[in-house]
Amino acid sequence: MFQSDTLANKKILITGGGSGLGLAIARGAAELGARVVLCGRTEEKLRQAANSFPKSEGVETITCDVREPESVEEMFSNIWPLDGLVNNAAGNFYSCSEDLTPNGFRTVVDIVLHGTFLCSHAFGSRAIREERGGSILNIVTTYADSGSMFVLPSACAKAGVLTMTKSLGVEWASYGIRVNAIAPGPIPTEGAWERLVPSADIEKKMKEAIPMRRFGTEEELSQLASFLLSDMSSYITAESIAMDGGEGLQGSGFNLLDQMVPREELRKLFYSMKSSKK
Ligand code: HXC
Ligand code: NAP
Repeated sequence: MFQSDTLANKKILITGGGSGLGLAIARGAAELGARVVLCGRTEEKLRQAANSFPKSEGVETITCDVREPESVEEMFSNIWPLDGLVNNAAGNFYSCSEDLTPNGFRTVVDIVLHGTFLCSHAFGSRAIREERGGSILNIVTTYADSGSMFVLPSACAKAGVLTMTKSLGVEWASYGIRVNAIAPGPIPTEGAWERLVPSADIEKKMKEAIPMRRFGTEEELSQLASFLLSDMSSYITAESIAMDGGEGLQGSGFNLLDQMVPREELRKLFYSMKSSKK
């Protein structure tokens, strides 16, 4: 159903576009004719990501920490005008909630919830002033709805982003700005797997717990993202679409971990995952 020009004449910023799902969304959009801007904190990662595109024209990179209001404003001043924004940048890690520190909680909420607000605000205020409309796409998770054990800061922040999707989708509809979300189930990426899949055995059990008995793919996600960013979905707004092989209804997030591994072992595992990153 896509044509090579489905996203032609659209310039789209993808936060966290230097790796994983953000990069897959950016590649998919570029294949359909979009000009894409990849943002992240790490210049080298962005450069390598841009080099992985079959055609380098139409791909820009910009370093920005989405937690920093000034940095976000500067980025938008540099790359505006835009037609689309994908709020994909995120931080996440496992922890028993009683072991979280205030700064650990704040760090994830800052990236996911505040970062999404700052970018959406920078996009919306300009688009409204210039009467140009646009499409915002937020990447949440199945547990934005249900909550989840062991990823409390992420679950709270993604729930906030889901509410932001509905709130702004309605508030900005009359300005021609659509705001939607995708709630993916697990999709193998280096960033997610090194933080959330501690062993091959747990990976196998996670997969078996999904009704479709498999993980999602980057291609499946990028196709849905392209659809929501394109004019093909012009009457869809304030909506969140689960893309999870049925995982969310069966029992989303990491609640099942507690049935796979005794709690004290999980706590030790989480500590070892944290220290292996230092
Ligand atoms: C407990 C931790 C921790 C861990 C960090 N912290 N890692 N606490 N367990 N594993 C605490 C630190 O001790 C510190 O608190 C605070 O968090 C900030 O840590 P920093 O390392 O200084 O933060 P920073 O360098 O800003 O890095 C942010 C980060 C990091 C979130 C901690 O992991 C990151 O950069 N992540 C980006 C990519 C990412 O997470 N991708 C995965 C997305 S996958 P104190 O109190 O000590 O100062 C995803 C999947 C969802 O979301 C669903 C899948 C099904
Ligand atoms: P990832 O590769 O780790 O992606 C996260 C990206 O965000 C990285 O490119 C990272 O780059 C960037 N980032 C982190 N903090 C940032 C900040 N403060 N400012 C700007 N950029 C920042 O993991 P992923 O699996 O692709 O995840 C992408 C999105 O999908 C996230 O929203 C995640 O919650 C969601 N998701 C993933 C899955 C899954 O199974 N993979 C499932 C559901 C939802 P830098 O570190 O260089 O900044």
